[in-house]
Amino acid sequence: MDERVVTNELLDEDIVSHSLRPKYLKEYIGQTEVKEMMDIFIKAAKNRNEALDHVLLYGPPGLGKTTLANIIANEIGVNIKITSGPSIERSGDLAVILTSLEPGDILFIDEIHRLPRIVEEILYPAMEDYVIDIVVGRDTGSKSIRVELPPFTLVGATTRFGDLSSPLRDRFGVIHKLEYYTTEELHEICKRTASIFECEISDDSSYEIALRSRGTPRITNRLFRRVRDFADVLNDGVIDRKMTELALSKLNIDKTGLDSKDHAYLDGIITKFGGGPVGLESIAASIGEEPTTIEDVYEPFLLKLGFIKRTPRGRVATEKAYKHLKKTHNTRLF
Ligand code: ADE
Repeated sequence: MDERVVTNELLDEDIVSHSLRPKYLKEYIGQTEVKEMMDIFIKAAKNRNEALDHVLLYGPPGLGKTTLANIIANEIGVNIKITSGPSIERSGDLAVILTSLEPGDILFIDEIHRLPRIVEEILYPAMEDYVIDIVVGRDTGSKSIRVELPPFTLVGATTRFGDLSSPLRDRFGVIHKLEYYTTEELHEICKRTASIFECEISDDSSYEIALRSRGTPRITNRLFRRVRDFADVLNDGVIDRKMTELALSKLNIDKTGLDSKDHAYLDGIITKFGGGPVGLESIAASIGEEPTTIEDVYEPFLLKLGFIKRTPRGRVATEKAYKHLKKTHNTRLF
């Protein structure tokens, strides 16, 4: 099995973002409802000395699903094993992971909607009764052996709730949607990140970063790091409003947080497809992006801003999008 299928080791590029991640619920900003609920369920499970019920977290990328899984493990005081749907190819891979768990441990499966069906089926008895059935031998000589597992908690994460099969969905006792963060929450997160980096940032700068972060802490932290780069090189490390505006405009992040990809997408619908309706595949091909990336990453925020609508016949750019891009409606001649 690939060594990286299960790991609680960090990859180099993860180290910086990992150190920014809150480790306990009280440090976690935003997602108030999820936080309150998880606090209760964690305390109840701890008091009863039982494994926490299985938890499914869903919502757009970058909102803190992995962070929450780590927090749950820290709050309970157990180990966490981290893997993802596409990296578990065979039932045996999952069996190895499950049998290595200790009582109460958390197994985090990111992109759980991408688990192969045959692997998913191993999860059903594992989640329900803490057992797996392993087939040994071949053909007529094969038999199924039942292996007991320690009580454990599966934390599943997905950007695509609708792609989960209902037998899998039904086996989660706690299901939560993570919502986009408010500008105020992202402002707090940006100030927290700056203080971890021991970096001074003016209040209006951190607010500007928050405003342009598309409701997503991962983007706040990324923009903060890029603005800090500009300030370090051009402004003796001083992060003020002017440096922030300059950096964000060089990065092609507009006032609502849209980047050049979002612009290409909207511009594509408007200029190449007359404002829509246009099918996902066509718009994806026209801007050279994967349809799933468009659906999971770009569209949810554009829908939230009210810049696009999904209709049965395809995507349509709204009046708001035309205004934002300063486009006029072309009158069709034919
Ligand atoms: N860093 C990234 N996400 C965060 C959150 N929700 N709260 C605090 N710091 C964060």
